Amino acid sequence: MNALMKFLHVAAAIAWLGGVSFMLFALRPSATELLAPPQRLPLIAQVLRRFFLLVWPSIGILLISGLVMLLGVGMKNAPIGWHLMLGLGLLMFALFGHLFFGPFRRLKQAVQVADWAEGGRRMGQIATLATINLALGLIAIAAVIFLI
Ligand code: HEM
Repeated sequence: MNALMKFLHVAAAIAWLGGVSFMLFALRPSATELLAPPQRLPLIAQVLRRFFLLVWPSIGILLISGLVMLLGVGMKNAPIGWHLMLGLGLLMFALFGHLFFGPFRRLKQAVQVADWAEGGRRMGQIATLATINLALGLIAIAAVIFLI
């Protein structure tokens, strides 16, 4: 049971953080180099729409599997790193919710009305929030591994 929970947990983390890394370090710089805003922003909005269909279930899996593991040993017995992961994980979920319902919704609206300046601004906000979440995810993983 615990092995299954850990497997699902790590698989969901890979899907989420791997996608964020791909978006930040491969897709976005390449699209910026090769495409003008009227081509680039609709492409990125569509890529993100599909990627976020994967992120929502990943968040659900991370939360449920994480809580099963944490509550399995009891909050009082859990190492400090596990508590840190819970806190940082909840912060990451909140930041993603903000990214999804704020800048991402605005990006889609901007693309619909071909407002490329607004779309570019929203994409910048999305990239900033995604970078913060990637850093928080790495810190959370380091905490759970090193602070035992
Ligand atoms: C709030 C929700 C979360 C809770 C309650 C939670 C809880 C836990 C716990 C208890 C473990 C330790 C399992 C063990 O060593 O047996 C763990 C490991 C792990 N967590 Fe989380 N976690 C959460 C969110 C996240 C997030 C957001 C990520 C990254 C996107 C993440 C990535 C990982 C990874 C990669 C491991 C495996 C580390 C290792 O191999 O020891 N977790 N988590």
